[in-house]
Amino acid sequence: MSRQYYIAGNWKMHKTRAEAAELAKALVDGLKDGKHKYLAAPGFTLLETVAALVKGSNIRLGAQNMAAEEQGAHTGEVSVLQLKDLGVETVILGHSERRHIYKEDDGLINKKVRLALKQGLEVILCVGETLEEREAGKAEAVCETQTVKGLEGVSAAELSKIVIAYEPVWAIGTGKTATPEDADAIHAYVRGVIGKLYGAEAAGKIIIQYGGSVKPENAAQLMAKENIDGALVGGAALKADTFVPIAKFS
Ligand code: 13P
Repeated sequence: MSRQYYIAGNWKMHKTRAEAAELAKALVDGLKDGKHKYLAAPGFTLLETVAALVKGSNIRLGAQNMAAEEQGAHTGEVSVLQLKDLGVETVILGHSERRHIYKEDDGLINKKVRLALKQGLEVILCVGETLEEREAGKAEAVCETQTVKGLEGVSAAELSKIVIAYEPVWAIGTGKTATPEDADAIHAYVRGVIGKLYGAEAAGKIIIQYGGSVKPENAAQLMAKENIDGALVGGAALKADTFVPIAKFS
């Protein structure tokens, strides 16, 4: 398989600048001989601190969200231009916490995706079903809709800047991980959706991360699956002691 593994840490709404600096230093040190692609996505107020520490390392800097407009009268929002100014290279969009707590819909997420791409950022587009949707047999359909609508208007050339993260909502922060088999089945399905939209070659190349209670103990089994190309890690990304072993799984 020619796809590169891509392990990303989503720090969510955790840490002060001093705590973030401590973690960033430990990650730079712990991952300096790491063989995969890595990302740290701290909260907005931590970006400048973390940017200075990961500069020149093999860890990319990511943001967890951004506004759908480039600039203007949008009180409380953060613009893609402001993120780029801090050295952000990647933005996580459509995270289930944005979809469910803050009611972001596919249309808004798509607008953000297109703006991020226009501004040259890499996008991690999150998709995933709730427990209710899974139990109703709708997991594939939900992920398909979120993928298709999230990528509306994205060209084949731009797709190289897209990473998909499959994060089943019921597995996030709950300690319940999808079995590697269940996760792989959805990853294969989403890869098929990309194939329908962009062709088999693009489908073979796109990186699809798994997210939801990834830990050092389950990372290797998940990564061993054909269609799982990395991880988007929440809780276990808050400590180098847990993130580094995931990032260096074997
Ligand atoms: P946990 O790893 O804490 O389940 O969070 C996953 C996640 O939402 C990453 O974006």
